[in-house]
Amino acid sequence: MALGRLPACVIDNGTGYTKLGYAANSEPQFIIPSAIAVKDKGASSHSSALRSGSTVGKIDDLDFFIGDEAFAPTAANYSVKYPIRHGIVEDWDLMERFWEQCIFKYLRAEPEDHYFLLTEPPLNTPENREFTAEIMFESFNVPGLYIAVQAVLALAASWGGRAADQRSLTGMVVDSGDGVTHCIPVAEGYVIGSCIKHIPIAGRDITYFIQSLLRDREPTIPAEQSYEVAKAIKEKYSYVCPDILKEFTRYDTDGSKWMKTYEGINNITKKPFVVDVGYERFLGPEIFFHPEFANADYTTPISEVVDDVIQQCPIDVRRGLYENIVLSGGSTMFKDFSRRMQRDVKKLVDYRLSASEAIAGGNLKPKPIDVQVISHKMQRYAVWFGGSMLASTAEFYQVAHSKAEYMERGPSICRHNPVFGQMM
Ligand SMILES: Nc1ncnc2c1ncn2[C@@H]1O[C@H](COP(=O)(O)OP(=O)(O)OP(=O)(O)O)[C@@H](O)[C@H]1O
Ligand SMILES: [Mg+2]
Repeated sequence: MALGRLPACVIDNGTGYTKLGYAANSEPQFIIPSAIAVKDKGASSHSSALRSGSTVGKIDDLDFFIGDEAFAPTAANYSVKYPIRHGIVEDWDLMERFWEQCIFKYLRAEPEDHYFLLTEPPLNTPENREFTAEIMFESFNVPGLYIAVQAVLALAASWGGRAADQRSLTGMVVDSGDGVTHCIPVAEGYVIGSCIKHIPIAGRDITYFIQSLLRDREPTIPAEQSYEVAKAIKEKYSYVCPDILKEFTRYDTDGSKWMKTYEGINNITKKPFVVDVGYERFLGPEIFFHPEFANADYTTPISEVVDDVIQQCPIDVRRGLYENIVLSGGSTMFKDFSRRMQRDVKKLVDYRLSASEAIAGGNLKPKPIDVQVISHKMQRYAVWFGGSMLASTAEFYQVAHSKAEYMERGPSICRHNPVFGQMM
């Protein structure tokens, strides 16, 4: 069928950023803020009163901006909204308009001609899948739709060049984006929902923390740019260190080797300014491992959460999870993040094994547990990339729900999306 030959559209709507493009590409064509700028109700009814009759609704409907354009001067009189909160769609009307521009303005696609793969966070509700199906099939008239679980896509993205028999849909996914970090155990393509844990530390918190460290020390940074500067410094210079005390000593004994200089331009005066970047480089991401530095109410290190989640899973999948801890999302991009996580999880596991050996009085020698944290090239857009890969297979067209099926049985068909990708 001709339909099958046009690439599927793959859209991963995150809390902070939407990644969108066509299946089989290695990178999303667009990464835009998941933001939409709309006219305030008062303003829009005023302008519609000035317009004539039947076209009013339509004209008003098109009067919005998404992505970076939502923050441009042309949208100055609009209010900026985020339809997604903690990964879950909260405002369906705005979401529909957001998708509309994703499809027509960014992808420049005729939605009738492409299958769609969308993504959902862990613990999304079946009702939300129905809403998504209604919008996709009825407003956009798509011929086919599959709603994929983000964590499963992240696992697929980590396969890289692995041989087919080494590709596993069992793994522990640590997905850290802008707003939240999830630890999601997956066994053979199924999320073990009851064991998922959230960590209230993600990219935005690290940026805030770096911003607060710089505020005390670097008065040259224009106040209204301080978040943006902290974010740029974080993305460019931050890394995870093995031991903070040693790291402080390194900076104190040979600062010139470790300090960096960030050069910025004042948005208003257009004058350049410079910022010395020191301890922030390693202290920023350290809050994953020492959350109490930034948040007095939350003190569990990420490695402990990962270990806890795996310990709560059924015993027969635990080894498979420890062996395949997969990283996904922008905030796992710090250099040496995987190394530190692997070391810290391994420590906890070894400690438990030696404790149980001691209890058994040396009569029992437990089999060592292999801990592997997988870092890979597609980590930044892992969810999108996994979607792009899976949506380019013939199997995708078999598991996706078709328009004909939707017409016959209604939105409830999308409550369930069968697992696939193990046969590739
Ligand atoms: N090279 C980098 N190093 C560190 N952090 C980075 C890097 N690149 C991007 N980030 C951070 O990653 C975050 C965005 O990640 P991502 O696109 O995975 O989030 P999201 O999917 O929108 O959010 P969520 O998964 O919470 O719904 C931002 O906080 C950004 O600053
Ligand atoms: Mg995400």
